[in-house]
Amino acid sequence: MPAALGEDRVAAYWRDGFLFPLDVLRPDEAEALRLAVGKAQARAGHVGGTVRYMFSAPHLPIREVDELVADPRVLDPVESVLGPDIMLWAAGFFIKEPRTADFVSWHQDLRYWGLDDEAHELTAWVAIGDATPENGAMRFIPGSHTSGLKAHRDTWKDDNQLSRGQVLDVEVDESKAVTAALRAGQISLHHGGLFHASSANRTDNRRIGLALRYIRPNMKQVTGPVDYARLVRGEDRFGHFRPEPEPAFDFDPGRLAAIDAMPRDTDAFFYAGVEERAPSHDAPVG
Ligand code: NI
Repeated sequence: MPAALGEDRVAAYWRDGFLFPLDVLRPDEAEALRLAVGKAQARAGHVGGTVRYMFSAPHLPIREVDELVADPRVLDPVESVLGPDIMLWAAGFFIKEPRTADFVSWHQDLRYWGLDDEAHELTAWVAIGDATPENGAMRFIPGSHTSGLKAHRDTWKDDNQLSRGQVLDVEVDESKAVTAALRAGQISLHHGGLFHASSANRTDNRRIGLALRYIRPNMKQVTGPVDYARLVRGEDRFGHFRPEPEPAFDFDPGRLAAIDAMPRDTDAFFYAGVEERAPSHDAPVG
């Protein structure tokens, strides 16, 4: 189990913009999560579709996910990168059904989230089952987080799991890509400025990943009037985010109404459908 990261691994994270694999969940815990995902999807009346909570805030309706987002085994390595004060800003499942064409185009997460400082967040991507080159594991371009946020364009392709099919409008040298192969229960960390993508699932099994988006409390939402986050470790001395509604486990309809009030993109994989970040972040770097 990883606990805190050594200095060399933290340095590798900042150099490459990612770090993996980290052992977090036991195989039986990963399997329990896999079952919980299937149960939640069946409960919500959708299987494999874009069920809102699955892709914006699955920790609110699903108890097992709620426990995971504040699990010390996840937060210890996150703290090594972000420091002692940590908020969960969003979470979402990325599910690729067997032998389907769904993919994720090359993109930078922070381009679309409306948050104001790219150095103060990361994604912990939890492999609920094995993630392999054959089933669409993520691919990263090492060091691509260091040159700032680039222009993207919307392609609106049906099979693209991103909400608008957004894709980097710059050349991506795929020969440099590193595949983040993970065993069930392992996680990867990646920076929101990192170029990343993933391919289709060509296997007979579901590929399920859970993306947990962590930030420092000093970040701000600069495109919307209000945003929500949950303090999971340390202190929030800034008050830039409203506390999330209390969890509404098992899709209790009454409690889900409170979640509905949150400004989350309703049927997209991405949280908060933000078109562009503040202009100051669009300036070319270098
Ligand atoms: Ni992404």
